[in-house]
Amino acid sequence: MDINGKRAIVFGGTSGIGLSATQMLSDKGAHVIALSRNPEKLENVPKNVTTIKMNVLDRDALEKFFQEEGEYDILVNSATGGARAVGPFLSMDLDGYKASFDKLWGYTNVVRYGTKYLKDNGNIVLVSGSPARKCRPGQIAISSVGGAVEAFARGIAPEIAPKRINIVSPGIIDTPMSPLQGKEREDYYKNTTNNNLIPRAGTPDEVATGIIFAIENEFITGTTIDIDGGWLIS
Ligand SMILES: NC(=O)c1ccc[n+]([C@@H]2O[C@H](COP(=O)([O-])OP(=O)(O)OC[C@H]3O[C@@H](n4cnc5c(N)ncnc54)[C@H](OP(=O)(O)O)[C@@H]3O)[C@@H](O)[C@H]2O)c1
Repeated sequence: MDINGKRAIVFGGTSGIGLSATQMLSDKGAHVIALSRNPEKLENVPKNVTTIKMNVLDRDALEKFFQEEGEYDILVNSATGGARAVGPFLSMDLDGYKASFDKLWGYTNVVRYGTKYLKDNGNIVLVSGSPARKCRPGQIAISSVGGAVEAFARGIAPEIAPKRINIVSPGIIDTPMSPLQGKEREDYYKNTTNNNLIPRAGTPDEVATGIIFAIENEFITGTTIDIDGGWLIS
């Protein structure tokens, strides 16, 4: 797909991986709408980008948004959705475990309401995460959610063809998702990646190039692209 001149909608497009994807789409000449709950936090809005306030869990607002926007070409969703529970399952607060699935509901909501208006040669990219297929200690909640996201994409790909849907699965990426600062932040990324084949955190741009690849390559659908520093085989 030639991105130049296309209409792209990026949920979670105001921070981290989604913001990098928004920037790259805009650099390639797309007209981008970037949505999140607090888009006003984004200080330098890239050119060709409009920001809109939206909660991916608000189904009525999503339905209205897609109706009003009409036809478009590219849908990306990298919104975290809400809270993420961390820790072993047997001692985990079950409401926290359940709340982690808000990411899945955000993804399924936008696919449900947005696919109708996606052009036939258009495509969707969702973001899962390496724990989906290799769960390390404490990651049972995000592993369960990531697995569900990947199964959802594989399952719905035949239903929406010829429209395409793919997943990008990041490893540990240095984004504003982590609130840690300074030395604590540095130590966190060092400790969580030191056993990987590429022992460092990835950058949002490294993941966004995978999103762009999934958009541009018209011969892939229902698949997952891993951008994880070798997490799965480390
Ligand atoms: N960073 C990592 O290490 C890593 C690893 C594996 C997978 N991932 C996945 O990659 C995706 C992107 O993560 P990131 O690191 O780029 O996070 P991030 O920097 O925190 O960005 C998340 C974006 O999602 C938006 N968002 C969150 N909940 C939303 C909601 N309910 N409705 C609308 N927008 C919402 C946020 O804006 P508002 O808060 O303003 O709504 C923000 O724009 C997520 O799915 C995450 O699970 C990240």
